[in-house]
Amino acid sequence: MDLIDLVILISGLIFLCLWWRYSSTTGGGPKNLPPGPRGWPLVGNLVQVILQRRHFIFIVRDLRKKYGPIFTMQMGQRTMVIVTSSQLIHEALVQRGPEFASRPPDSPIRLVFSVGKCAINSAEYGPLWRSLRRNFVTELITPTRVKQCSWIRTWAMESHMKRLNSEAFDNGLFVEVMSSCRLTICSILICLCFGAKISEERIKHIESILKDVMLITSPQLPDFLPILTPLFRRQMREAKELRKRQMECLVPLIRNRKAFVEKGQNPNSESEMVSPIGAAYVDSLFGLEPTGREQLGEQEIVTLCSEVISAGTDTSATTAEWAMHHLVLNQEIQEKLYKEIVAAVGKDGLVKEEDVEKMPYLDAVVKETLRRHPPGHFLLSHAAIKDTELGGYSIPAGVHVEFYTAWLTEDPDMWSDPGEFRPERFLEGDGVDVDVTGTRGVKMVPFGAGRRICPAWSLGILHINLLIARMVHAYKWLPVPGAPPDPTETYAFTVVMKNSLKAVILPR
Ligand code: HEM
Repeated sequence: MDLIDLVILISGLIFLCLWWRYSSTTGGGPKNLPPGPRGWPLVGNLVQVILQRRHFIFIVRDLRKKYGPIFTMQMGQRTMVIVTSSQLIHEALVQRGPEFASRPPDSPIRLVFSVGKCAINSAEYGPLWRSLRRNFVTELITPTRVKQCSWIRTWAMESHMKRLNSEAFDNGLFVEVMSSCRLTICSILICLCFGAKISEERIKHIESILKDVMLITSPQLPDFLPILTPLFRRQMREAKELRKRQMECLVPLIRNRKAFVEKGQNPNSESEMVSPIGAAYVDSLFGLEPTGREQLGEQEIVTLCSEVISAGTDTSATTAEWAMHHLVLNQEIQEKLYKEIVAAVGKDGLVKEEDVEKMPYLDAVVKETLRRHPPGHFLLSHAAIKDTELGGYSIPAGVHVEFYTAWLTEDPDMWSDPGEFRPERFLEGDGVDVDVTGTRGVKMVPFGAGRRICPAWSLGILHINLLIARMVHAYKWLPVPGAPPDPTETYAFTVVMKNSLKAVILPR
């Protein structure tokens, strides 16, 4: 080898080493991003995450131990800043709320379903988001509207109890909790949106399409490495086909409702219009002209109604299932709750919405469930509205800011015996003063906090309270002999029981 070759080789090696060091450092460096695990050139931490073959939430749980309150992960071209400490979450979401209230750009597949970010959850912080959210709150969540629609819950709960009864009869006394709760909540939300009672079969069809939508919009490789997009043309084709099916499934409900609103007549027997004109969410969307968008068409209306059904079903059903899991395992807690319900409505009475609001132990059971099993371990992705800083580090406007809120409720500095399920802590103990909206401080925020807090958190709690109170009032819940409930978690949009809860029910 000539001397010149040797010089070129050594220079090449030095250059490669420098390039590796520069491009594989996550965080720190001249950009002053929060530190993070060292990644590989070009792909950052992406391959390391894929190779672990575990869901991202479980990887972050381990990384938090090493990197603490704020760290960066470089996932391909996507920079993610993960915030885990109570103080920083409160500072970003509440004290400096508007600064961190935006959402990052959507992937091309997500844009198909959000019709260009025309949904409350994905809209950037600005006039469109404000008008959509204001309309949602006025039309669905105000106390008057909740009261006006309480008959929908009464109807859905009756069907729920009948279904449990016949399922137990068919299976020899045991029932599966999750599927039934999901169907009930989904039917309530469909009726709130479209004002129509539809068959169980159609509800299941809508539910399965929305599940497919959630699956196809979950992060995929091109979201992190856009250069690979051309290789994923098939996925885009499938997404468009699914969007077509979603439209075919929901547009008839919209058209039927429109005919009902305009002509006051029930258009067909397949979907019976039951909410008075003005009481269904979709009625408000017919005339809405949100700032920055023309009058909404069927595409936008399908997106906005699907968002309500998707956002409200799995979150609430997951919580109901985990609560029942603990009540099955802990008969003492179940008895205490049963006694509270009987004291309020009698042994043969009917649990109504106004009753569950006056049940402090039920409230404590539901809060303890949300603490031990927050349905989401992260909030939805946030983004800063402009370049800013947090915890002494830079946060550029485009990056994904992820709030890892599950750690808050596992932190032994904030909760005594955090792994234990003890509703009493919310009556006397470390949970008494907890503010689940995070405004006064962040100890548990299952619904987020600040500007982007879940706008329907009280409605979600109402659905969960009603389901649990009705189920415990009517039946004693026991483990299936020889097959006790298994608390293993898995991720399926929310953190659910890996093996769905099955329980024996005995009429009280
Ligand atoms: C136990 C029940 C529920 C839980 C745990 C829950 C949790 C959450 C969380 C964590 C967020 C994200 C907050 C953030 O990004 O900072 C969110 C947003 C949202 N939720 Fe819920 N939710 C529940 C029920 C519902 C229900 C019943 C509905 C609809 C009827 C709903 C509609 C929404 C909407 C529209 C957003 C987007 C808000 C925005 O971006 O401004 N949620 N929810």
